[in-house]
Amino acid sequence: MNQAPPHPRPRAPRVLFITPEVHPLAKTGGLGDVSAALPAALREMGVDVRLLIPGYPSVLDGIGHTRRVAAFDTLPPFPPSILRSARLSTGRRPMETPAYVIDCPVLYQRAGDPYVDAEGRDWPDNALRFGLLSRIGAILSSDASPLAWRPRVTHCNDWQSGLAPAYLDFHAGRKAATLMVIHNLAFQGIFPADTVAATGLPPASFRMDGVEYHGGMSFLKAGLYYADHIATVSPTYAREIQTPALGFGLHGLLAARRDRIIGIVNGIDTNEWNPATDPALPQRYTAATPEGKAASKQALQRTMGLHADPGIPLFGAVSRITPQKGYDLILEIAPQLIDLPAQLVILGSGATPLEQALTQLARNHPGRIAVRIGFDERLSHLIEAGADSFLMPSRFEPCGLNQMYSQRYGTPPIVRATGGLVDTVTDYSTPAALFANGASGFMFTEMTAASLLDAIRRAVAAYHDRPVWRRLMANGMSRDFGWHGSARAYRELYLSLQS
Ligand code: ADP
Ligand code: GLC
Repeated sequence: MNQAPPHPRPRAPRVLFITPEVHPLAKTGGLGDVSAALPAALREMGVDVRLLIPGYPSVLDGIGHTRRVAAFDTLPPFPPSILRSARLSTGRRPMETPAYVIDCPVLYQRAGDPYVDAEGRDWPDNALRFGLLSRIGAILSSDASPLAWRPRVTHCNDWQSGLAPAYLDFHAGRKAATLMVIHNLAFQGIFPADTVAATGLPPASFRMDGVEYHGGMSFLKAGLYYADHIATVSPTYAREIQTPALGFGLHGLLAARRDRIIGIVNGIDTNEWNPATDPALPQRYTAATPEGKAASKQALQRTMGLHADPGIPLFGAVSRITPQKGYDLILEIAPQLIDLPAQLVILGSGATPLEQALTQLARNHPGRIAVRIGFDERLSHLIEAGADSFLMPSRFEPCGLNQMYSQRYGTPPIVRATGGLVDTVTDYSTPAALFANGASGFMFTEMTAASLLDAIRRAVAAYHDRPVWRRLMANGMSRDFGWHGSARAYRELYLSLQS
């Protein structure tokens, strides 16, 4: 009997994941978290994904044993770089992720932040630093690679890896397909025109249909133009970036490539962010034992110098302090917020004028408002657990992770209806809707202080209605924000690209 030939098994994806940040070694925001958790989730489903990261001191010191696997000394004007292979433990996950680290001391061996110096100014050689990351990523993705392992798909993240698709486009030999993932369109990596020569791209790339952007060169535009496919970190943001309002000057290019854009919502690392096991909390808790949360509130009030008061609603915020995150609105409504009455705690760092204004705000309202300027992973966990509600009045938000962390910690978020916040929070409207739609937070639309304050008032009213609040907490805590669904979507995308 004739049998139909079996379907050929799709070749397992083999992916090079190029990233400038990975938690816990180098993190300034959500990209660090995603670069740790997504590859780990992909490996658990059989995808052979490996990271490529710059060898900042925190990476080389923290990654453990490394092995030299290649040297690149043919990339003028870059000094010779050594490629080291290592295995990265991310969070409290059992599996390790293979990683390639670029050891180039002249470009990466310096104290502080990956992108800026101690005064907050961009490192002057950022084009070379991330040009090198992109270029080595492109070499490893082609038949020019010195390694036996070759990816079939190269997954680029943000502008820092945006030149990789451009280098690959100009490579004549065999090469991987490219995916450019936008985590934040506000950062584009724009440099003077002579950067094209300095990064070794052919002059032919410097055109409107290429890397040119208003007379300069844009790393992110390069990625968006040359990549085979584009993804961003939520479906709503995928639509928003095609509009002038949130396209940051690239909406035309993005709209023209709309059939090559997909929005895949981020997940969270549910091992790392779990109130039932979190070592940063004085007492662990679950949806069944939410009372344990009170110990975190007490610890947070004590640590931050707020009045000890178990019954007052306590609002928290943790983020980069930039115009994106809406701190201008928080500054405006803070006096009315504490009159509700309520308390406010903020952790973040970023733009100096906003940092100073927030510090002054806390000085004006001791015991009611507390602000910690800096980056403090442990305190960020305590705020997620100890606050009653979490503030995210973002002007735009590609995905946002903290609103998911807060729902998981029984801390209903107050979010603006933008980007991934729309896709991950369900607004509370009426008590009846609580049961019908699984409401888990509060949403407002207008980017105004009055709208934010209105949402905060709604939250405070709900907070004082204990059955309603308990249900809001339970709805958020029982939502599944794990990576499996989204990792599966990336896996499908890789399979379609490498075929
Ligand atoms: P973004 O990537 O725009 O900064 P996300 O919400 O996606 O926003 O992710 C921010 C991540 O960075 C979260 O894990 C958040 O807790 C963390 N984070 C931001 N600022 C700080 C800080 N000052 N201290 C500790 N963690 C921070
Ligand atoms: C960005 C975005 C944030 C997103 C994160 C991870 O920095 O601002 O919304 O969650 O990247 O994708």
